[in-house]
Amino acid sequence: MNICYSLADFQEALELLPKDRKIAFVPTMGALHEGHISLIKTALTHSKYVVVSIFVNPTQFNNPDDLARYPRTVAEDCKKLKAAGATLVFIPSVEDIYPKATNKAEQLDSLVFDLGGLDKTGEGPRRPGHFNGVAQVVTRLFDIVKPAYAIFGEKDFQQLAIIRYITKKLGYPVEIIASPTLRGEDGLALSSRNMLLTPEHHAVAPKIYKTLKGALNAHPASKPTPAELTQWVVETINSEPLLKVEYAEIVNSLTLQIVNSWEEAESIQLCTAVFAGAVRLIDNIKLK
Ligand code: PAJ
Repeated sequence: MNICYSLADFQEALELLPKDRKIAFVPTMGALHEGHISLIKTALTHSKYVVVSIFVNPTQFNNPDDLARYPRTVAEDCKKLKAAGATLVFIPSVEDIYPKATNKAEQLDSLVFDLGGLDKTGEGPRRPGHFNGVAQVVTRLFDIVKPAYAIFGEKDFQQLAIIRYITKKLGYPVEIIASPTLRGEDGLALSSRNMLLTPEHHAVAPKIYKTLKGALNAHPASKPTPAELTQWVVETINSEPLLKVEYAEIVNSLTLQIVNSWEEAESIQLCTAVFAGAVRLIDNIKLK
């Protein structure tokens, strides 16, 4: 496994791969856990050339403290990636990704993307500018890596939908591959934020996924409307005093617009964000 700490090194390493290679690309922000590693495994089912990027993208953070606090564990990450079978690891600097940023006051990237309205629900309104930042970094990384496949986790369902949209809209010749959410034995979706949970919050956090599964079972047997089921999800999670729902939404999986009936969309997803103390956890489940 080759580790490249600069754009120039990475471009050289790419040159050494066979000309007819098809790259499977896994973008990450590091602090890797088994959930990330499962994406590498998915990538390896598509190609033997797996490129992983580790880049904590400043433009997708709305809060500078969050960015400063983001865990950085590059040495351990590389060990895990080597064991998982990655080919190349790209660890660029901010200047490699946003070359025009010459001083701190200057905006790193001013490109504004058409996100097709997919940022109007869920994380979008709660994290202004977040998905535009994701679009900036992912398109820049696609331009550099030129992958045939790019793998994203269903854990970040809205991110996956938005990346599918911009890839198609901008005509990138990249096949977007969804990889299922990896969970602990208790059902809690793996996330780097889980390690910030107190033992008390960790003990109750699995209630989030338990409730999502309960919602899946409630439909269509007891035939609640999407609004009624949403209310049930909020009340059930909030009945645990250590959890507080920020939002729960039942959306059309393609447009991410909230649905009013089960017939309205071919494919429907229930998405939620929940505070467990100071830690914000997201999860989702396919209802239809
Ligand atoms: P990051 O949070 O590091 O996640 C990298 C990838 O791992 C994403 O595709 C995410 O959905 C996936 N992932 C995280 N937890 C997972 C789990 N439990 N099961 C399966 N997949 C999981 O998402 C980002 O970074 C950034 O926004 C990025 C796309 C790299 C752009 O900066």
